[in-house]
Amino acid sequence: MLVLSIETSCDETSVAIVRDGREVLSNVIASQIDLHQKTGGVVPEVAAREHVLRIQECISKSCRDAQLCVSTADNIDLRECSRAIDLIAVTQGPGLIGCLLVGLNTAKTLSYVHKIPLLGVNHVEGHIYANFLERDPEEFQFPILVLTVSGGHNELILMRDHVTYELVGESIDDAAGEAFDKVARILGLGYPGGPVIEKAALKFEGEASIIFPRAWGIKGNTNPSSKLGMEPQVPDFNFSFSGLKTAALQEVEKSGLGPPEADRNSCLPDRQAELAKSFQEAVIDALATKTLQAALKYGVKEVHLAGGVSANTALRTKLEEFLTPHKINFKFPKNFSYCTDNAAMIAAAAYYRVQKEAMPDLDNWEKLKADPGLVLH
Ligand code: KG4
Ligand code: ZN
Repeated sequence: MLVLSIETSCDETSVAIVRDGREVLSNVIASQIDLHQKTGGVVPEVAAREHVLRIQECISKSCRDAQLCVSTADNIDLRECSRAIDLIAVTQGPGLIGCLLVGLNTAKTLSYVHKIPLLGVNHVEGHIYANFLERDPEEFQFPILVLTVSGGHNELILMRDHVTYELVGESIDDAAGEAFDKVARILGLGYPGGPVIEKAALKFEGEASIIFPRAWGIKGNTNPSSKLGMEPQVPDFNFSFSGLKTAALQEVEKSGLGPPEADRNSCLPDRQAELAKSFQEAVIDALATKTLQAALKYGVKEVHLAGGVSANTALRTKLEEFLTPHKINFKFPKNFSYCTDNAAMIAAAAYYRVQKEAMPDLDNWEKLKADPGLVLH
């Protein structure tokens, strides 16, 4: 089954063509990072406008890359390509409403004009299915615990089977990616925060002297797990990162370097690297400790890491270290481009959903509405 998918929920315009939920024929991603670096974060209207400008070329390039039709550099016959497509999938939510609308209306038009059924996909479900790309479906063993960590989402989700989800824990305030972005801004490191913090942290050798608190959920216990000599017993599987952001801000101010600005370095490079390392360790400690304990409680066979923060090597290493002694398989997306927002993951989620449920009707395009707060179920 060939799925053409569109993802425009935030700041990447992406169009992919994927066979049977795993073979990626094309995955075109037009990133808006350069644009949002100027403002230190995503301005929703600017992002939506950029999607309008880029979506058409992404569709053409995706069809061209997948070699579904004879094409020249600037001419693509969408009618010819569309004959090979069985299903169109589009991110319906959650996300920024203006951004979602661009992808959704484009997908509706394609569905109507080319008479191909259209399926709306939850963005978080897309991140979950990024782990199924380029992997044999036979190699997965349920139950699977998924740690979703992106800029907007931070959840522990139990999957007893395909496309069934039980929420085990979530962030009660900021998502981990959001915390990375905010702290990078405080440190004057730029946008997006995750990659720049990871890079800065690598520059600090040795043990950082700053120990940021961990929000385990037990009053008075904010020690790092490694300092306790064991994983602390956590009362629930929820996360909290807003206190960490405040602690980072206080550390920067304590250095006597004044209030931070997005467009300049707010502290010395060495201090910056040490703060970045301590912050990253605190986030990873909380994520990995709670994931391990939830994995043990629910007796899962596999743990999957999904979402933009799954690109973080230190987080992957820590989870591997925690899970291997318990013989729990650990997976993260096969390709870095499947970690952050991309359309291939939306196609994979759509494929597994239609395997379980029916193919949508041809007139589904009429009913589908963008939903910025779409809940996973
Ligand atoms: O999944 P994603 O592309 O968008 C959302 O759905 O939110 O995730 C973006 C988030 C950003 O907060 C970014 O800072 C974070 O993923 N991120 C990382 C890394 N690469 C991206 N966080 C930590 N380490 C990374 N290497
Ligand atoms: Zn995302």
